[in-house]
Amino acid sequence: MTDLTGKVAVITGAASGIGASGVEVFVEAGAQVVAADLQDDKGAALVARFGEDKVAYQHCDVTDMKALEALMQSAVDTFGGLDILWNNAGSGGTSSSVEELDLDGYSFTMDLLLKSVFAGTHFAVPHMKARGGGSVINTSSISAVCAGYAPITYSVAKKAVAHFSKLAAAELSKHQIRVNAILPGFIATSIFGASLGLPREQADQMAEMVAQAGGAMQPVGRTGKGEDIANMAAFLSSDAAGFVTGGEFVVDGGITVGPPHSWNEQLGGPILDALGITPEQAEQMAEAMRGGQGS
Ligand SMILES: NC(=O)c1ccc[n+]([C@@H]2O[C@H](COP(=O)([O-])OP(=O)(O)OC[C@H]3O[C@@H](n4cnc5c(N)ncnc54)[C@H](O)[C@@H]3O)[C@@H](O)[C@H]2O)c1
Repeated sequence: MTDLTGKVAVITGAASGIGASGVEVFVEAGAQVVAADLQDDKGAALVARFGEDKVAYQHCDVTDMKALEALMQSAVDTFGGLDILWNNAGSGGTSSSVEELDLDGYSFTMDLLLKSVFAGTHFAVPHMKARGGGSVINTSSISAVCAGYAPITYSVAKKAVAHFSKLAAAELSKHQIRVNAILPGFIATSIFGASLGLPREQADQMAEMVAQAGGAMQPVGRTGKGEDIANMAAFLSSDAAGFVTGGEFVVDGGITVGPPHSWNEQLGGPILDALGITPEQAEQMAEAMRGGQGS
C-alpha cells in the first residue's frame, strides 16, 4: 500500500467523486488532508467521518485567487506544512461549440479548470520549498487526447492542464517539487449530472446510473471509480514515485486503447459497419466463398 505517513495534502473538489475518494485513500495511507470545496455540508461530513486530526475542511472557490492562497496557508496553519497539492476541482463547463462561441462560458471554464491549477500550484510552491520539496497532481482528462468525450472548451483546458504539468515539472524540479497529470476516463461521479445543471442530489443519483451503464464502453468491463484515480494520485504523491515527474498518466479502463471493435469481438469494425454487414453475415459470406473455392 502507498505510504503517505507524515505528509500534508490539499485536495480541491474534495467533497464529491474523485476528490472525496482521494480524501479516503490519502487518509488511509497516513496523510493529513485539507479538503477544499464549495459543498460545505459534504466537507463537514468528511471531517466528522475521519476526525479533525486527519481532515480539515476549507470552503474554497478555486476561481477566487485570494481563497486559493488562503487554502494553501490553511494547510500550514492546521497541520504544520504542505507536501502535496491535488488540483482536482472541476465541472463540465460550457458546452458551446466553436460555431456558437460562448465567450463568458469560455472564460468561466478556463478559470475553473486551468487558471485554478496554475495559480494553485503557484500558491503552493513557497510552502513546499519550506518543506524541501513536494508533489503536485493535476486532474486532466482523456478528453485531452481524444475528441468525443467532453465539450471542446473543457477538453482544451484539460489538454493545457497536462501540458502545464510538464512545464511546471521542468521549472520546479530545482526545488524538488514534482508535478504530474492524471487523465481519468469515465469515472462514475456526479459531474455528468452537475454539468447538465441538475441539482446535486439528482446529479449524485446519476452517478449511480453511470456506474451501472458505463461498463460496456470499456475493455475492463466496468466503469471507473473515484478510488481508481485516487490510488494513482496517492502513488504519485508518495516517495515511491520520487523519480516520476512531468508525466501524463491515463487511468481509463482502456477506453482509449482503440475503437470498441479492437477489444470487443462481437463488433464488426469500421469497414463492415460502412458496408452495413454484420459480423455474422461476414462470417457466412466467408464460409460460402471458402466452400466455393473448395468445390
Ligand atoms: N468523472 C469523470 O469521468 C472525469 C473524467 C475526467 C476528468 N474528470 C475530472 O475530475 C475532477 C473531479 O470531478 P468528479 O468527476 O469527481 O466530479 P464531482 O462533481 O463529483 O466533483 C467535483 C467537485 O468539484 C467541486 N467544485 C466545482 N467547482 C468548484 C470550484 N469553483 N471551487 C471548488 N470546488 C469546486 C464540486 O463541488 C465537486 O465537489 C474534475 O476536474 C473533472 O473535470 C472527471
